[in-house]
Amino acid sequence: MTYLDLSAIGMRYGDNVILDGIDLSVAQGEMHVLLGPSGCGKTTLLRSIAGLVQPDKGAIHLAGLAIEKLHPKDRGIGMVFQHYALFPNMTVRQNLAFGLEQRRLARTVISDKIDAVLDIVSLQDKADSRPRQLSGGQKQRVALARALVLEPSLLLLDEPLSALDAQIRKRLRDELKRIQRRTGLTSILVTHDQDEALSLGDRISVMNKGRIAQTASGPEIFYRPDDLFVAKFIGNANILSAAEFSRLIGRDFDQTAVIHPHMFKIGRASGGSSLFDVAVTVVETVVAGNIVRYVMQSNGIIFNVEAQTAMNRAHLAVGEEATVTIDPSDAHFL
Ligand SMILES: Nc1ncnc2c1ncn2[C@@H]1O[C@H](COP(=O)(O)OP(=O)(O)OP(=O)(O)O)[C@@H](O)[C@H]1O
Ligand SMILES: [Mg+2]
Repeated sequence: MTYLDLSAIGMRYGDNVILDGIDLSVAQGEMHVLLGPSGCGKTTLLRSIAGLVQPDKGAIHLAGLAIEKLHPKDRGIGMVFQHYALFPNMTVRQNLAFGLEQRRLARTVISDKIDAVLDIVSLQDKADSRPRQLSGGQKQRVALARALVLEPSLLLLDEPLSALDAQIRKRLRDELKRIQRRTGLTSILVTHDQDEALSLGDRISVMNKGRIAQTASGPEIFYRPDDLFVAKFIGNANILSAAEFSRLIGRDFDQTAVIHPHMFKIGRASGGSSLFDVAVTVVETVVAGNIVRYVMQSNGIIFNVEAQTAMNRAHLAVGEEATVTIDPSDAHFL
């Protein structure tokens, strides 16, 4: 069931069209990810939903209610930004109490709500710390808790993980997913990190220049991009023109082929008429733990191949000649 519905949202700054007719439906309890390059309008779209900027056109419905004319504080929407913006001179508990006190709730109610939310973000032992005594990941969890404690009807997260270093980022990503599942909060998360989008999003909208290029589940976006922009933006698929793909496998194809590197199998085909052998030379190898990434060359066509490593098996060396096989039904055609 649609919970948040955006219809034909349009917005300009001067002559620049920033949002160009955005239609988007988000279901109740969904974690929806907005993914796109810098400047494509992700933050502007979130700010429009929250009411921090006013779009020129379009309608926004939340739980069946038109909210586009409501003041931000009457929309019941929580927002978490890339930079935590906590009050530095207040403890964690005081930071969390701030919004609740403005609602004039009883002291004991406030205290109970804060305890519950500190439990959700696993910061019970930091209630009396000040922001400067916390790590980046902990600060971002406080920022999340501060949004959660107000029990919003919608949670908007604008690159909440991007200021953190890689390891904390991955941990907090998993935690965010767990918290979102546990609270069942309908959420929209903005990122320009494909991995983050694919691992967090129930569905993903890929944005390009103020428009949504495609909305679909992660696997659908990954394997069946609607256009070249989405194909290039997601993952590191090989994009081969019709001529290149035809030359590679020695049979005529008339569409651009999108082929993920792990779809090529190393070794000669063993039966199966739909498989094509390709004679290759290894140009480059990078071994990254369980994965080996090859750049390969065949007939002047350069492409990427990925394979699993094994403990007791050597991988191919630069300059080595080999055969890889491909099944065209593992390619997506545009
Ligand atoms: N207040 C403003 N006045 C004029 N132009 C603006 C304003 N805010 C944003 N823009 C422009 O709108 C476009 C979209 O900006 P937005 O911040 O929504 O992008 P974004 O997708 O969030 O990018 P990033 O990934 O870098 O955060 C950009 O071209 C930006 O320069
Ligand atoms: Mg932004």
